[in-house]
Order: sequence, then C-alpha cells, then structure tokens
Amino acid sequence: MKMRCDLTPAWKNLQHHAQGAVDFDLRTAFAQDASRAEGLSQAAPHVFADLSKNHTDAATEALLIELARQTGLTAHRDAMFRGEAINHTEDRAVMHWLLRQPEGSLQEGALAEPLKLVHATLGSMLAYAERVRADAQVTDVVNIGIGGSDLGPQMAVLALQDFVIPGKRFHFVSNVDGHELAGVLKGLKAENTLFLIASKTFTTIETMTNARSALAWFKAQGGTDVARHFAALTTNVAAAAEFGITTTFGFWDWVGGRYSMWSAIGLPVAMAIGAQGFKDLLAGAHAMDQHFQTAPLEDNLPVRLGLLDVWYRNFLNYTSRSIAPYHSALRRVPAYLQQLEMESNGKRVDRNGQALPYGTSPVLWGEPGTNGQHAYFQMLHQGTDIVPLEFIAVKKPTHNLKDHHELLLANVIAQAQALMQGKSDAGGHKHFTGNRPSTFLLLDELTPASLGALIALQEHRVFVSGSVWGINSFDQWGVELGKVLAKDIHARIVSGDASGLDASTAALLQRVRS
Ligand code: F6P
Repeated sequence: MKMRCDLTPAWKNLQHHAQGAVDFDLRTAFAQDASRAEGLSQAAPHVFADLSKNHTDAATEALLIELARQTGLTAHRDAMFRGEAINHTEDRAVMHWLLRQPEGSLQEGALAEPLKLVHATLGSMLAYAERVRADAQVTDVVNIGIGGSDLGPQMAVLALQDFVIPGKRFHFVSNVDGHELAGVLKGLKAENTLFLIASKTFTTIETMTNARSALAWFKAQGGTDVARHFAALTTNVAAAAEFGITTTFGFWDWVGGRYSMWSAIGLPVAMAIGAQGFKDLLAGAHAMDQHFQTAPLEDNLPVRLGLLDVWYRNFLNYTSRSIAPYHSALRRVPAYLQQLEMESNGKRVDRNGQALPYGTSPVLWGEPGTNGQHAYFQMLHQGTDIVPLEFIAVKKPTHNLKDHHELLLANVIAQAQALMQGKSDAGGHKHFTGNRPSTFLLLDELTPASLGALIALQEHRVFVSGSVWGINSFDQWGVELGKVLAKDIHARIVSGDASGLDASTAALLQRVRS
C-alpha cells in the first residue's frame, strides 16, 4: 500500500525545509558552493542536463529522494516494467516502453509473448513504410488523428525534418474544424495521396468525421483503390475493417494514446525517416528507459526532474512551467509535452478516488526560442509570478549558414543567465530581480536517437511526479464529459431544441443557428 505523499515524514521535512528556502538565492548559492554547477548537472543517454540554475540544492534533492522512497517510487516503476496493471481505473498495463525493447531481450516470463507481437507488428509496419518510400506515385501522406494520434508523429516528423525523404510531403489533420482538412485537400491529387487514419479507439468523433470526408473526397476525385490509398493505425481492427480499410497496423490497450508514437501510430514517422531512422528513435528511447530503470535515484535524470517538479508545485507554489526549445524543428515539442504532462497528471483524486489536498500537474506551455524572447519572456523576467523555464538546446546545427547557430546558442545561454542574474543597478521599470529558475537540457545533435531519448526522459519524469502524487497518470476521464455534451449540443444545433438548457447555453445555441 503506497503512503499518500503528504502523510509521509519526508513531506513534513520538505515543508519545514521550504520555510527556510524562502530566501534562497541562486547567486548566493553559486557563490557559496564552487561545485554547484557540477553537482547539479549530469549526463544521461543523449541528453546533458544542467539543473543548477534551479531553486534547489543537494540538501533539497536528498529530502526529495527520501520522499520518493517513502512513496514507493521504485516499486511503482518496477511494477510498470513488469507489466502490472498500474492503470487500475482501466485495468491496463502501461507498457509503451515495451515498444522500444530490443527483439528477444525478454525471453523469460509473461512479457516474452507481447514483445514478439511488438516486433512482428514493427517488422510489417517498417516494411510497409519502406514500400511507400520507394513508391514514387505517393507524394503526399495525410495523417488523420488527434491528441496522441497526432501530436507525437507530427512533432517527430517536424523535429527530424533533416532526415525526411525528399519528394514526399507529410500533412497532419486533427481538428474537426473542416477548414483544416479542406485546406490540405486543396493541394492534393487522389492518385498521389495516402491517408493514414490514426486512432487508438477508432471512435473519436474528430478523426472519424475527417476520415469519412477524406474517403468521400477520394471517391469524388475518381479514386477507387481504397486498399492502396488508406491505412488504419488502431487497436480496433474490427472498426477499421467496418469503415472499409483493409490495410491495418495494430497496437494494444496497454499503450496510452499520449504514449503511442512508438507504436503503429509512429507509421508516418517511419515513412518520413525510414526503417533505420525509426529503429534509432526507439533505441534512443530504450537507452533512456534503461537509465530510468537502473541509475541510482541520485543520478537518475527523470527522477531528479520529476522530483524537482514536485518541489516546485507543492512546496514553492510555482504553478506552471514553460518549455523553450531553441531549435525551430522542435516547435511542436511544447504542445506534445502539454498533452503528455497535463493529460497524465491533471488529476484531482488519489488512486482510491479521494480528493487530494495538494496540487498536481502544473500548466505547461511554451514556444521556440528566440521567438518567445520577443513575446512573453518579459513576464518571465519581470512579472509577478515565478515560472520555471526549461530550455532545450542542440549543440550542432545541420545548416551551414554563418553566425546563426552561435547567435542562437548565445541567446539561450544568455537567457538562462539573465533570468538568474537579474539587474540591480537600475531601479523601477529597469530593475530585474533575477533569481528566476531554469533547467537547461542540451543535445549534441538532433537525431532520431536523441529525440527518442529526450521524449522518453519526459515520459518518465511525468511518471515520477505522478507516482509521488499517488495519482493514476494513465487514464483521462476528464475528456469524457465534453464529448458527451458535444453530442447532445450537436443534436440540438440540428433540431433547434434548447429546452432544459441553462440560459447562456440556450442563447448561444440560438445565436449560432440564426
Ligand atoms: O480526448 C482524449 C483522447 O482520448 C487522448 O487521450 C487520445 O490521445 C485522443 O483522444 C485520441 O484518441 P484516439 O487515438 O482513440 O482517436
């Protein structure tokens, strides 16, 4: 039985420690401890992390690790890696990590069979991806999916644009707003287009509506060979068949939607970067899985980041975190991480359904740098709220334009420095308090492997904070109510029946119908 985090002795110690930390100052901390930068930095597979510009120190980290121990973090982690049904509200195992496990590596035990299935599907999916890559007639691939069936592949295809096969375009349509699909279809020819219908459940209204319209468009353009121009990526193979799609790549209920880019949902990524590239992506993520599983808690990067998130959220009351990737190809990473963290940890009850007296998921948001600097960084430097910032930078560029990359790196390092240092020689409007926290993640290069590691790092840090909070990070009941009500309102928009609605909803209904 896990002990609720706020009832542990470690929580009390952290509360006490936080009272003493109100005067914590990064500048003083660096002045007093010559080894601070080193002690609060570490290398993990493909990712170097400098945590030293955060409102933390060795003593805080030690207390947080005590909290992790007292809330049973390692037992919970190990239960996930044993394939236990830790997503208890849906009675499902949580095994997205198995999708990146090398073939044949789990010979013994209950996971040997699922791993075989994983590799059988991966093999056929990669073979299909290679066939499409070699097929010059396919110039456009349109992924139709939403949430986890959109954000991961979209983010990864963009991030890995330097590795994308020339001569093919990849489009992502998610919104039920027809402007999106119509805009994409405008530039397409049926004979050159492959539609991928990506939906774990194959019931999501947005995806089904877009898929139906895509099929109707395809037929209206004279398209006949649905088997060649449509493929489904889903756990619901029967529903895909009923829809008329015979080319299907499956996955399993133990892969959460927001954790599914490693599964058949990653097919557009495999088509874009090739079978070897996709294997490299998986290998990078697997390296991070192993780090998470085996590194001592003190040197375990997902553990350190997840615990820092708990410290900020529950003890220093920082309610949001901003993500600033200093690489334009990483521009969908903030949106991806938003779903990962907020859909996983935006929960208000513990595992037994009891309301929690402490905060959980922070608000995640962000934009690529340097763009953000000329938009909202003002608030980060001089606003009244403290927002920890997470920088993501890449050492080596893949272009050879003079000066750009040095300027980019100069900016990201300078921003972290400015947030910390502040500026006290001017008063009033020109004063910067400084002492504003940030984390710095650095990749040597942006490759399939380093992207895989970076994303797996984020998955596991979300696991860590969710585990300490004692919530189920793997369900998402909070999206259900809106879906049900939208169905009701849709019927009313058609019929005009506003009876029984609150006055505001009824008036809006009438207004959009008039
Ligand atoms: O609405 C939330 C959600 O269930 C996400 O968790 C999921 O990623 C998305 O919808 C799409 O679901 P599906 O892949 O089943 O279409």
